[in-house]
Amino acid sequence: MARGRKVGESKGKEKMHSFGYRANAAVTFSVTILALMCAIASLSDNLNSPSPSAHVQILNVNRFYKKSTGDDEVGITLNISADLRSLFTWNTKQVFVFLAAEYSTPKNHLNQVSLWDGIIPAKEDAQFSIKTKNKYRFIDQGSNLRGRDFNLTLHWHVMPKTGKMFADKLVLPGFRLPESYR
Ligand SMILES: *[C@@H]1O[C@H](CO)[C@@H](O)[C@H](O)[C@H]1NC(C)=O
Ligand SMILES: *[C@@H]1O[C@H](CO)[C@@H](O)[C@H](O)[C@H]1NC(C)=O
Repeated sequence: MARGRKVGESKGKEKMHSFGYRANAAVTFSVTILALMCAIASLSDNLNSPSPSAHVQILNVNRFYKKSTGDDEVGITLNISADLRSLFTWNTKQVFVFLAAEYSTPKNHLNQVSLWDGIIPAKEDAQFSIKTKNKYRFIDQGSNLRGRDFNLTLHWHVMPKTGKMFADKLVLPGFRLPESYR
C-alpha cells in the first residue's frame, strides 16, 4: 500500500512538471507572437503616410519693441487651425505639437523660436482651431525683426504605444513682421 502510494505521488509530480513546462512554452510562444505583432504594427504604422493640414493667421501684433538689452520682441495673437487626425492610428499614444517662427538673419541662416505648443491626447482632439497669444516669448537675439520675413512651422512628434517615435512638420511660408515698432 505504502509503496503504491509513493509511485502514485511521483507520477503526479511528473505530470505537474510536464504541465509546468508546457505552460512555460506557451507563455514564451505568446510573448514571441506579441513581439512579432508589435514589430509588424510599428512597421505598418511607419508605412501609413499621414496628411495633416494646418492654417495659421496672425490676427494681431499686440506689441513690437526693442528691449533694453537691444533685442527685439514681438507679441502676437494667432489663430491656429489644424487637422492632425491622420496622425492617429490605433498605435498612437499622443501627439506633441509646436508652432515655431523660422527666419534668417545676416548672422544666422536659421533662427527658430517656439511660439506655442500642445499635447493632443486623442484623435477626437486632433482637429482644432484656437485663438491664442504666443505662449512663449518671440524674442530675437538682436534687433532683426523689423520687416522680417518669416515662416511659421507646425512640428509634430507622434508618440506610439509601441515602436519608434516619429516627427515631421508643415511649413507655412510668407509671413512678415511690421516695418516699425509699435
Ligand atoms: C481661425 O481660422 C479658421 C480656419 O481658417 C476660421 O474658420 C476662423 O474663423 C478663424 N478665427 C478667427 C477668430 O479669425
Ligand atoms: C520659408 O519657406 C520657404 C518655402 O518653403 C523656404 O524656401 C525658405 O527657405 C523658408 N525660410 C526659412 C528661414 O526657413
